[in-house]
Amino acid sequence: MRKVNLFYLISMVLFGMMIAVSCTKEGPAGPAGADGTDGEDGIDGQDGTATCIECHDDSQVLFARTIQWEHSTHATGGNFERNEGECAICHTSQGFLGNLDGSYNYEEDGAFISNPNPPNCYTCHMIHDTYTTDDLAFTVTGPVELRNTGGATFDFGNGSLCASCHQGRTVDPFPEVGGDDIEVTSSRYGVHHGPQANTLAGMGLFEPGTGYTDHPHKTGIANGCVTCHMAEPFGQQAGGHTMNISYVYHGSTEVNVAGCTDCHTDPDGLIENTEELQAEIQALLDELKGHLDAAGITEEGSDSSIPGTYSAEVAGACLNYKAITEDRSLGVHNPSYIKKVLQNTIALFSE
Ligand code: HEC
Ligand code: HEC
Ligand code: HEC
Ligand code: HEC
Ligand code: HEC
Ligand code: HEC
Repeated sequence: MRKVNLFYLISMVLFGMMIAVSCTKEGPAGPAGADGTDGEDGIDGQDGTATCIECHDDSQVLFARTIQWEHSTHATGGNFERNEGECAICHTSQGFLGNLDGSYNYEEDGAFISNPNPPNCYTCHMIHDTYTTDDLAFTVTGPVELRNTGGATFDFGNGSLCASCHQGRTVDPFPEVGGDDIEVTSSRYGVHHGPQANTLAGMGLFEPGTGYTDHPHKTGIANGCVTCHMAEPFGQQAGGHTMNISYVYHGSTEVNVAGCTDCHTDPDGLIENTEELQAEIQALLDELKGHLDAAGITEEGSDSSIPGTYSAEVAGACLNYKAITEDRSLGVHNPSYIKKVLQNTIALFSE
C-alpha cells in the first residue's frame, strides 16, 4: 500500500487551485504599439511666501506704519475697554468689523466683545484676507451715512473710514427749531465725543437760522480727514499713522502743516490764520456757554448737562456747544459753517 505523503497531497491541492485561477483563454501577445507623444511640462508651483514678501520685506514700510500707530491715541487711548453694546462698534476693532459684516449685533442683550483690540491695522485694512498687497485695501469705502441726518450720506474719500467712527451718536428725539420740548435725562446729553465727520460735512448738528455755506474744506479735500491728519509724518508724534495734527518740538507745540501746503502755500500765514480762527471760535463758545449757564442746562465751570425739561432751542444749543467743543479743531474742520452755527445759536438767546 502506498503511503499518502501529506506534503504531496497539499501541493497537489494548491496546484489545482492555481490552474483553476489562471485558466483564462488568452491569445498570443500582439506587436508593441507606437510611442505616445510627450506630455507637457507641469507649471512650477508658486513659492508659498512670494506674496507675503510684498509686505513683509526689508523696506521698513510696515515697521514705520507700526511705530507711528503704536504712538497714536488709537493704540494708547485705552478706551477700547468700552467693549459692550453699541460702544464696541467704534471702540473695538472686532466690534467695528462685526458691525460691518453683521456678525456683531450690538442691540442684542449682553452683547460684548471678548479680548477686545483697539483700532489697529486689521480694523482699517483687509490684512491677511488674501495674503497679497490687495489686503491694504480699506474695510470701508464710499459714502458714509451720518446719524441724526435722516439717512443722509457724504463721501469723504479715504476719510470715509474715519467718518464711520468719528461721527455723532444718535440723539432721539433730535431737537428742531420751534419743535417740542426736550427731556434731558443725562449729564452726557449730546452727540458724544468725536463728531468730526459732522462738523467737516456740516451735517447732523442743530441748525437754527440761515446763511450756511459749504466751505472748501468740505468740498475741496477729496480724502477728507486723511489729507490733513495722515500727511508726511513728523517722527512718531504727528502725521502718518499717528494721525495727530500737532507735535512738540524744542518745547513748543507746532502744527504739522504738511497736509495743508498744497492749498495754503504760505505756512507761517496759515498758522497765524489758524490761531486767529481758533481764538474767534473759542470766544463764540465761551459766549454760548454763558447763555447755557443762564438757562440752567449747564453750570459755570462744567460742561455736564443738568437733567430736566428744556425748550428745543436750549437743548439744541447745548448739543451744539458740546459737539463743537468735542470736535476739538476749534473751527478748522469747516471754518465758515462752524462759525455760522455758533453765531446763529447764540442769536437764539437774544430773541
Ligand atoms: C498686505 C500686506 C501683507 C501681506 C501680503 C502679508 N502680511 Fe502678514 N502682516 C501684515 C500686517 C499689517 C501685520 C500686522 C502688523 C505687524 O505685526 O507688523 C502682519 C502680521 C503678520 C505676522 C505676525 C503675527 C500676526 O498675525 O500679527 C505674521 C506671522 C505674518 N504677518 C505672516 C504673513 C504671511 C506668512 C504672509 C503670506 C502668506 C503674510 N503675512 C502676508 C501685512 C501683510
Ligand atoms: C474703529 C473706529 C475708528 C476709526 C475707523 C478711526 N478712528 Fe480715530 N479714534 C477712534 C477712537 C475710539 C479714538 C479714541 C481712542 C481712545 O481714546 O481709546 C480715536 C482717536 C483718534 C484721534 C486722536 C484724538 C486724541 O485725543 O488724540 C485722531 C486724531 C483720530 N482718531 C483720527 C482718525 C482718522 C484720521 C481716522 C481715519 C484714517 C480714524 N481716526 C479712524 C475710533 C476710530
Ligand atoms: C459712533 C462711534 C462711537 C460710539 C458708538 C461710541 N463712541 Fe466713544 N468715542 C468715539 C470716538 C471717535 C472717540 C474719540 C473722539 C476724539 O478723540 O475726538 C470717543 C471717545 C470716547 C471717550 C474718551 C473721551 C475723552 O475725553 O477722552 C470715552 C470715555 C468714550 N468714548 C466712551 C464711550 C462709551 C461709554 C460708549 C457707549 C455708551 C461710546 N463711547 C460709544 C466714538 C464712539
Ligand atoms: C484708522 C485706520 C488705519 C489704521 C488703524 C491703519 N491704517 Fe494703514 N492706512 C490707512 C489709510 C487711510 C491709508 C492711506 C493714507 C493716505 O492715503 O495717505 C493707509 C495707508 C497704509 C499703507 C500705505 C498703502 C499704500 O498703498 O501706499 C500701509 C503700508 C499701511 N497703511 C499699513 C498699516 C499698518 C502696518 C497698520 C498697523 C500698524 C495700519 N496701516 C493701520 C488707515 C489705517
Ligand atoms: C483741513 C484739514 C483737516 C481735515 C480735513 C480734518 N481735520 Fe481734524 N483737525 C485739523 C486741525 C488743524 C485740528 C486741530 C489741531 C490742533 O489744534 O492741535 C484737528 C483736530 C482734530 C481732532 C482732535 C485731536 C487732535 O488731533 O488735535 C480729531 C480727533 C480730528 N481732528 C479728527 C478728524 C477727522 C475724523 C476728520 C474727518 C472727518 C478730520 N479730522 C478732518 C485738521 C483737519
Ligand atoms: C484742498 C485744499 C485745502 C487743504 C488741504 C487745506 N485747506 Fe484750509 N482752506 C482752503 C481754502 C480754499 C480755504 C478758504 C480760503 C481761505 O480762507 O484761504 C481754506 C480756509 C482755511 C482757514 C480759514 C481761514 C480764515 O481766515 O477763515 C483755515 C484756518 C485753514 N484753511 C486751515 C487749514 C489747515 C490747518 C490745513 C491743514 C491741516 C488746511 N487748511 C488744509 C483749502 C485747503
